[in-house]
Amino acid sequence: RKDLLGLEELTAEEITHILDLAASLKEINERPIKKVPTLRGKTVIHLFYEPSTRTRMSFDIAAKRLSADTYAISTTTSSIVKGETFLDTVKNLEAMRPDIFVIRHPVSGVPHRIASVTKAGVINAGDGMHEHPTQALLDMFTIRSHKGFLKDLNVLIVGDILHSRVARSNIWGLTKMGARVTLCGPSTLVPREFEGIPGVRICQNLDDAISYADVIMVLRLQRERQDQNFITTLREYSVMFGLSLKRLERAKEDVLIMHPGPMNRGVEIDPEVADGPYSVILDQVTNGVAVRMAVLYILAQRSVGEE
Ligand code: CP
Repeated sequence: RKDLLGLEELTAEEITHILDLAASLKEINERPIKKVPTLRGKTVIHLFYEPSTRTRMSFDIAAKRLSADTYAISTTTSSIVKGETFLDTVKNLEAMRPDIFVIRHPVSGVPHRIASVTKAGVINAGDGMHEHPTQALLDMFTIRSHKGFLKDLNVLIVGDILHSRVARSNIWGLTKMGARVTLCGPSTLVPREFEGIPGVRICQNLDDAISYADVIMVLRLQRERQDQNFITTLREYSVMFGLSLKRLERAKEDVLIMHPGPMNRGVEIDPEVADGPYSVILDQVTNGVAVRMAVLYILAQRSVGEE
């Protein structure tokens, strides 16, 4: 493949290959000198048209640890502010012969469109409400690291599923890997589109779903994508769907608590849970670097092979 656009189009074998490679690259991040020459001479351009802390920094660190040269366009100081279209921006950057574009964009499908017009590899770093494939890969990597496997695990995803590209990528990825996914949230925020996918169920009763979950993935309310009132009040949402210590009393002893970030503490997750013994939220961030190293490595090797 030239690009990584989503997990909907990947096979279980391809996902396993990325996770296995990430596992072998992870130790580079623990060395005193965290750099290998693998991607020396390769050029990675970050195009982030939406805010990001984790994904952008993680891709940048991953690329630099593999010795690729990285560059980023600023949406406030580039010619984007003069009215240049995204497509023209990409065509001009391609004329400088990059190897990989890492793209985050508020509009679903933009990375796919760019991938169809550029010879460079394209990695989707989150497009609108569609997919965030490297987030789901690092989530699966984290689960696999703790549990040893993914098959037959019960993964509960709680919250704003409707607006979540993280949920979509995880639903595709986890079900391909044989896990069972339960979706829970306000009925206005849990779309029916997933009901027909084998391995996915929708649950109205959060406390019931918590009791049989091996993993609980909590999602942020994406107020910036909500063009109408999907919930009554934040307080009511927190009472109904927030993950509190009290709620966790009925969870399995070895449950994993995950959150892709950024968190709204006290809304979808209580601080005691986010920072508590079941939380692997910062492991997710650590693992993100190794997973992105693996993705960059695979796509860059492909461009080496074609030269
Ligand atoms: N999980 C995630 O995508 O975080 P950022 O928006 O900070 O990149």
